[in-house]
Amino acid sequence: DSSSRTTLRILTDAVVGIDAAGRIVFVEGGHTEPLGLDSTLELAGGRSEPLAGVRVVTLPPRAFVVPGFVDTHTHAPQFAFTGLGYDLQLLDWLQKYTFPSETKFSSLEYAARVCHTAVRRTLLHGTTSCIWFATIHTDAAVQLGRIAANLGQRAFVGKVNMDRNAPETYCETTEESLAETERFVQLMLAEHDARLPGSSGSACGECRGPPAQPVITPRFVPTCSAELMRGLGAIAAQHGLLIQSHISENLGEIEWVRSLHPAQPTYAAVYDAFGLLGPRSVLAHGVYLGPEERRLFVERGAVVSHCPVSNCMLRSGMLNVRRLLSEGVAVALGTDVSGGAAPSMLSAIREALKVSNMVSLSAPEGEGCSPLTYPEAFWLATVGGARALHTDGVTGDFGCNAAFDAVIVDPLAEGSPIDLADDDGPVEVFQKWLQLGDDRNTAAVWVDGREVYNRADDAAAKRGA
Ligand code: GUN
Ligand code: FE
Repeated sequence: DSSSRTTLRILTDAVVGIDAAGRIVFVEGGHTEPLGLDSTLELAGGRSEPLAGVRVVTLPPRAFVVPGFVDTHTHAPQFAFTGLGYDLQLLDWLQKYTFPSETKFSSLEYAARVCHTAVRRTLLHGTTSCIWFATIHTDAAVQLGRIAANLGQRAFVGKVNMDRNAPETYCETTEESLAETERFVQLMLAEHDARLPGSSGSACGECRGPPAQPVITPRFVPTCSAELMRGLGAIAAQHGLLIQSHISENLGEIEWVRSLHPAQPTYAAVYDAFGLLGPRSVLAHGVYLGPEERRLFVERGAVVSHCPVSNCMLRSGMLNVRRLLSEGVAVALGTDVSGGAAPSMLSAIREALKVSNMVSLSAPEGEGCSPLTYPEAFWLATVGGARALHTDGVTGDFGCNAAFDAVIVDPLAEGSPIDLADDDGPVEVFQKWLQLGDDRNTAAVWVDGREVYNRADDAAAKRGA
């Protein structure tokens, strides 16, 4: 449970009760102890009693349950070329690798294969909720939402918009882009309604997860005309949708935005002028946001999705996350595949900690900025992300009435990269997982109170196949 940013609570011998709707109805556990860090940690030990008429799931020795990760920024189509092109910086990388590769999503069959890989891999790494970029292709984006729902991940999916400064074969006219976005939203909302419990529609007999939700997705200012951005702001407002984009990631990009919108004082002001900067906006990177922009983020309640792996790999820069937090900007974490090469939120957490360490050592930028602590980084990856989703019951922790989105972590799993000492307590085991663990430690994943992945069952099914 990590409902406070600087406090991590670990409950030992606890029982979590989940009702048929997948909501947590009780959490029972015993005593609490403070942890003597800058951050505090409470330990609770308690009793459990046999319960009648319910399915009881017990954990393997030393295994524990954590809230599922919320990845607030990643690109499904880019899983096709992850690992390539890190000799380039953002704008060249987009031209040489990203746009040509994303163009291939015009094939639904190709897109299905890439999206299946992307969703499954992130789920195995413990990402129970994910905000996805698809491509400009509407039907491939709808298909991504369907694939995520079938695999059980809580997905937020954007059809990308681009009507300028993109290759001819991977660009829309303004009219097309807006009309296709309307069509995308209608298709997603229809799919959503058909999948709700009690609906007569059977869009998906086999779907395990909650229905995917549409996100308005101008790629970034350089590829979107003013008219397009204005139209997208209006569509988002009309339906109360999440908005996602990129902001202030790379110095060349910022210079380009300045030349495209000389009348606007800042990059953030451009989005704001078109109704794209509000409490439901999730803007990736924000490495170079200035004081005025940070104030605007606070006023609007917009969220920065910090993508440290990507910022390091594309040599974009080091975000001062401590300054954002202390100024009251809402922050969450993202993997940003394939700007980032790792699909894992554990990697995003570790990189966020490392970058924050380096920033705290660099003058004058980091002066007076304490590094992020590991409870804070975990909080950003769970609660921080959940807050960006504005979805009933999705809180990123295990409070009563929360949807049970969780990962069962087995530090002793076969091939586990974690070495435990005999006297490691829960605090040590948790830290070792956070710093060393990977998908081999994911014993099971639960979304909305349903088990959507179980490593042992999966292995048995593969042996049987
Ligand atoms: N800015 C515009 N498009 C992209 C993208 O695909 N990845 C990253 N990292 N930044 C972008
Ligand atoms: Fe991105």
